[in-house]
Amino acid sequence: MSVSRPAAVIVLAAGDGTRMKSDLNKMLHRIGGRTLVAHALLAAAGTQAPHVAVTVRAQRERVAPHVAAVWPQALIADQDEIKGTGRAAECALDALPGDLSGTVLVTYGDTPLLTSDTLLELTQVHEDAGNAVTVLTAHLDDPTGYGRIFRGADSTVQAIVEHKDAVKAREEGGELRDALDITEINSGIYAFDVAVLRSSLAQVTTDNAQGEKYLTDVLAIARRTGGRVDTHSIEDIWQIEGVNDKVQLARMGKELNRRHLDVLMRESGAIVVDPDTTWVDADVTVGRDTVLQPGIQLLGATTIGAGCTIGPDCTLKDTEVGDGASVVRAQTDLATIGAHASVGPFSYLRPGTTLGEGGKIGGFVETKNADIGPGAKVPHLTYAGDATIGEGANIGAGTIFANYDGVEKNHTTVGNHSFVGSNSVLVAPVEIGDGAYVAAGSAIDGRVEPGQIAVARGRQRNIDGWVARRRAGTKTAAAAEAASAEHDSPNTDDSEGTPA
Ligand code: UD1
Ligand code: MG
Repeated sequence: MSVSRPAAVIVLAAGDGTRMKSDLNKMLHRIGGRTLVAHALLAAAGTQAPHVAVTVRAQRERVAPHVAAVWPQALIADQDEIKGTGRAAECALDALPGDLSGTVLVTYGDTPLLTSDTLLELTQVHEDAGNAVTVLTAHLDDPTGYGRIFRGADSTVQAIVEHKDAVKAREEGGELRDALDITEINSGIYAFDVAVLRSSLAQVTTDNAQGEKYLTDVLAIARRTGGRVDTHSIEDIWQIEGVNDKVQLARMGKELNRRHLDVLMRESGAIVVDPDTTWVDADVTVGRDTVLQPGIQLLGATTIGAGCTIGPDCTLKDTEVGDGASVVRAQTDLATIGAHASVGPFSYLRPGTTLGEGGKIGGFVETKNADIGPGAKVPHLTYAGDATIGEGANIGAGTIFANYDGVEKNHTTVGNHSFVGSNSVLVAPVEIGDGAYVAAGSAIDGRVEPGQIAVARGRQRNIDGWVARRRAGTKTAAAAEAASAEHDSPNTDDSEGTPA
């Protein structure tokens, strides 16, 4: 049996989202590193439907370009001033090809945990049963706020009653007076026969508690015109939960993260020590037996190889980490860390940092636009900006790559297996050849040839008796005097024959 694919998926994303209490449109809030609407779009696109249409209105100037960036094939449909999910679906239909036939799915832009698999299952059930409409439903302990699935005596679906209309019906009595007690709810996700949807929407009015054109009214109309209307129930209610406010945003973000960590552990073989403090964006991959220690954020397009140790306490964004690397208490952004390299603790890798295989960036090091070769070491207290550091080079503690002259950024190259002594300043632009040395404490602003040592610091001079003359009466002077007395006394010299 072939898998049914929908002819089109409509994503409704035009609502105001007032309950978010935000200057940013609801669709553009993020969980797992993606906007809500991006989650919805990718689930829709994952069905491989030939058409995906998105209805927009609120903050169109921001939402529409974002939709186009996430899924360029998406058709953007503008909703006019007529409100309601029915109108939103109607506007999307207008953007789809006029001769479209088959199944069209409707989903929401604010339902981020819904999967392509659920949409495909809904399509399959709908087509196998030959339905005109199939509603994805769930049974909730607390159905407050949702549209209720109202069934007749023969238990077939008669209509969906919106919560507000159910409240009204309770006050006014009549056939729908018990609708509030129904715990089977409308998820807002449907499969429709496209012709039925088109003709039914033309008959939907705004005669209801909210004065909106309800998509839910299509069910009763489809039934009246002889179509089969049925439900498909989903157990995993997270998939149909929409984000209406910032509390739900946090809840859904946590659940999305938990689900992704489960996949990383079960399918990729990652070891997650504390899922509660490990946050991994939706696109992040982690290799087998890599240990994620507590307190980690892996963000954006980060990829982590196999057998690594990451954390505790790291934030890695758009960072690639090779197999067997170790990253401890570090912050990285647009960086590449080679296989078996080590980073941290307490280091900051800024964009353009590349650390070669087996290389080391140690403690309290900041790097930016720095290409650090295989096996090279930048172990302590260094700033390396706009640098090329050769294979096996060693940068001593406290070295500063002075890359900025106040006007321009300049580049520094340190050759293969060269050695920069501690507390040096490399004043860019500067080039240190392969196999060269820089003496500790140097300020280097000229080229160093291979094999040379550059010494660029004041010579040491010692002034005898200075402490006695200038610091007489201090403990320092007393210590100096005691030391020289000891040194002068022949009886205390027991060092004979032992090497210095
Ligand atoms: C809707 C359903 C309700 C269901 C619930 C599930 C209707 C009339 N009601 O109610 O039965 O239980 O979803 O969550 O359909 N939207 C537009 N244009 C509009 C209005 C809404 O595009 O004019 C979009 C919103 O951006 C959102 C979605 O449609 O993505 C749902 O809108 P919302 O106002 O949240 O509908 P509910 O009142 O929750
Ligand atoms: Mg809603």
